[in-house]
Amino acid sequence: MGRLSGKIAIVTGAAQGIGASYATAIAAEGAKVLVSDIMSCDPVVEEIRKAGGEAVATITDVSSPESAAAMVAKAVDAFGGVDILVNNAAIFGKLTDKFFADIESLEWDNVMAVNVRGTFECVKAVYPVMRDNNYGKIINIASGTVFKGAPNLLHYVTSKGAVIAMTRSLSRELGQYNICVNALAPGLTMSENVVAGSNYNAEKLDANRSTRALKRYQEPRDLVGAVLFLASSDSDFMTGQTMVVDGGSVMH
Ligand SMILES: NC(=O)c1ccc[n+]([C@@H]2O[C@H](COP(=O)([O-])OP(=O)(O)OC[C@H]3O[C@@H](n4cnc5c(N)ncnc54)[C@H](O)[C@@H]3O)[C@@H](O)[C@H]2O)c1
Repeated sequence: MGRLSGKIAIVTGAAQGIGASYATAIAAEGAKVLVSDIMSCDPVVEEIRKAGGEAVATITDVSSPESAAAMVAKAVDAFGGVDILVNNAAIFGKLTDKFFADIESLEWDNVMAVNVRGTFECVKAVYPVMRDNNYGKIINIASGTVFKGAPNLLHYVTSKGAVIAMTRSLSRELGQYNICVNALAPGLTMSENVVAGSNYNAEKLDANRSTRALKRYQEPRDLVGAVLFLASSDSDFMTGQTMVVDGGSVMH
């Protein structure tokens, strides 16, 4: 029996990168998983099924309340409920570093619509299901950049600061329904878009690595243990918290 046997999970932004790693790891622990993204998640579903797990895919734009509601309805139809929501979808990997005054208002609004309001829309959509079941685990993906005050991604860093603030306030509102809300703040991680994109060259990656107590690059698999802990009953009395997993770069 896996640690999440009998549970039902949704992972957003799971077509690739870190989200795909969360989805496959949660499925490997026995949960049925709905994987969602604006891109096709079919390859991730195939990988989960090949490994003996259960998964379905859906196309979801987390910034649309209708789309978020349809995502939750699909999980309920397919599996009968939702116990775990991982709010991983974000505009991140394709962003380019810019001095704050060069960020256009439209780009600012797009980042906020997905990273902040998208998280809110998904929680809003899933909470009635969790409330009626008197159980839930919501894991909001933040970022270690908030604690570093990282420069040149002001919209992104601000959005992840809001995710941490949202996590704290939501935990106080949802505790009465036995719903835990925690955040996970990764350090710079070698997801597909970080590796293949143009924003992170070897110099930047090495500079980031040198800030760590554990002096190596961070891989998506480094985040899996923390997400499984926050998704499982091991963390049932923990809520409103932010776990930093970054090889000891920031300490808070
Ligand atoms: N990779 C890192 O260094 C790092 C560090 C700290 C935090 N994070 C966070 O971890 C998460 C995953 O990171 P990643 O590197 O895999 O990011 P990524 O940008 O490569 O992937 C994000 C995923 O979200 C999806 N997405 C974008 N807009 C969406 C929308 N409107 N609705 C639904 N899905 C949407 C994308 O299609 C993509 O599959 C993000 O929340 C990111 O902010 C990443």
